[in-house]
Amino acid sequence: MFRTHTCGELRISHAGQTITLAGWVQRTRKMGGMTFVDIRDRYGITQLVFNQDTNTILWESANKLGREFVIQVSGEVAERSNKNANINTGDIELLVTVLTVLNESKTPPFTIEDNTDGGDDIRMKYRYLDLRRNAVRHNLELRHAMAFETRRYLDKMNFLEVETPVLIGSTPEGARDFVVPSRMNPGEFYALPQSPQLFKQLLMVSGFDRYFQIVKCFRDEDLRADRQPEFTQIDCEMSFVTQEDVLQIFEGMVKHLFKYVKNIDFVESFPRMTWADAMKYYGSDKPDIRFDMKFVELKEEVSGHNFVVFDSVPYVAGICATGCAGYTRKQIDTLTDFVKRPQVGAKGLVYIRCEADGTFKSSVDKFYSNDDLKIIADKCNAIPGDLILILAGEIRKTQKALNELRLEIGEALGLRDKNVFAPLWVIDFPLFEYDEETQRYYAMHHPFTSPMLEDLPLLETNKGEVRSNAYDMVVNGVELGGGSIRIHDSKLQNEMFKHLGFTPEKAEAQFGFLMSAFQYGAPPHGGLAFGLDRFVSLFAGLDSIRDCIAFPKNNSGRDVMMDAPSVIDQSQLDELNLIIDIKE
Ligand code: AMO
Repeated sequence: MFRTHTCGELRISHAGQTITLAGWVQRTRKMGGMTFVDIRDRYGITQLVFNQDTNTILWESANKLGREFVIQVSGEVAERSNKNANINTGDIELLVTVLTVLNESKTPPFTIEDNTDGGDDIRMKYRYLDLRRNAVRHNLELRHAMAFETRRYLDKMNFLEVETPVLIGSTPEGARDFVVPSRMNPGEFYALPQSPQLFKQLLMVSGFDRYFQIVKCFRDEDLRADRQPEFTQIDCEMSFVTQEDVLQIFEGMVKHLFKYVKNIDFVESFPRMTWADAMKYYGSDKPDIRFDMKFVELKEEVSGHNFVVFDSVPYVAGICATGCAGYTRKQIDTLTDFVKRPQVGAKGLVYIRCEADGTFKSSVDKFYSNDDLKIIADKCNAIPGDLILILAGEIRKTQKALNELRLEIGEALGLRDKNVFAPLWVIDFPLFEYDEETQRYYAMHHPFTSPMLEDLPLLETNKGEVRSNAYDMVVNGVELGGGSIRIHDSKLQNEMFKHLGFTPEKAEAQFGFLMSAFQYGAPPHGGLAFGLDRFVSLFAGLDSIRDCIAFPKNNSGRDVMMDAPSVIDQSQLDELNLIIDIKE
């Protein structure tokens, strides 16, 4: 046996026992004739003692141990005179009588400590060392617990986990596909699934009724803190359900995870908000409702005062920053610079300070009297001490910018506490989304999403107004998951393809097998998928999903440890019948 105990296990009750541990050298401290070595494994740290007087040879060997050497030690557990309350094993130490070096280690390029001296890049290059650190390991332990509890809940609810293929044809989730050349079919390519969407719908046709899968998905899209090119979904689908059934079952799953992983009990139902209200009051389809600060539309109140900025645009709206009237000129300038950043996109920022004496001070005093400003302040429910911040412009762009400003102020006011969780269902999404660049409509969710039947007449006349049976689960402003009730009628599905600009031939080529399946008794069905990486990083309070993935990619989609992607051998290219000709 390599070890009788782990390095996190020994307590005062073990004193007097002879035991064996194995692990890594965390650090060595020499104090005169005594050498103390901390040995570490996944479970904790134990202090080892080597005494020159008791065993000089052993003490000399201990003095030669380097950081991260792998050792095995045996000896007697003893009570420590100098106890360490910071670690679980702090009451005891091991008086070592046998030391075996199982493996030496080069000095690691950064310290394996909670507060490491290693920067991001170096830690990613040596990710296997980074994973020895407590913080990263805790994230993976949390991920395991969440996947385990997900399976426990869904199993209890009669869901079957079914694996679906990874080498498939293109799936339409709106991102670019990663493709894999086929050696046996020269010139042809598989695509990696952006999600198992089509397969799970086929499983419903097959009668599987309640399906789930914790599954890797692949999307070649621009990366952000909450996006990786390969990520994991908790993918689910159900037959014979209404939207309400789906929301109930998965609200249950989210509550189960909060309860059994975070020890937080959500007794009340999660609030629901229509997409239209989410945009109107928060300018985002994933509002952070940990704090209020709703948008107040002000176009009517501000028009007709010769202030051309407000008069010339279709949309003017503000937010009320509670207690911020004391913001200095410099602080307001910083906010103005913030909203003018290209990512935020506003042209400028108007402020109104609600002074303690009931008067107002604003950047547009020239155009608005105190009474005019009072009307605006009243509409915003502002009281003395508050600061109103107003943006103006084209509606969607301005809502987006005001959303960023709201989040920025919320952050500054400490209203976005990572230990507070505010779940929300966003429902009634539009079916289509218009793209200015290509001047056509796209499915906002995906082409299999069912329109709301009462909106069907609008399909011909006003596509933009058609709502869908689609929903998102949002927590703290993060889109954790989303899904929809699907179209199960091949006639309606064909009509949808037509509205999305697919020719019958193109629809047949891409989705013929699904359309064919739908002719053999497709049950009404619907489902959703959660992003497991986002879920874990939300629970862990992380800023980036990278930190809860064992071997993530960097922002350029590279695995810096393996150095992937990389060029492949000519012989591999030959086998695949491929010639590389990189366009400038
Ligand atoms: P959707 O595209 O909304 O829906 O994806 C579902 C959830 O997956 C997560 N997610 C990501 N996480 C990390 N990196 C990414 N690049 C990434 N992209 C998406 C998000 C998101 O909410 N087939 C449908 C689901 C359905 O209709 O049932 C789908 O994939 O948390």
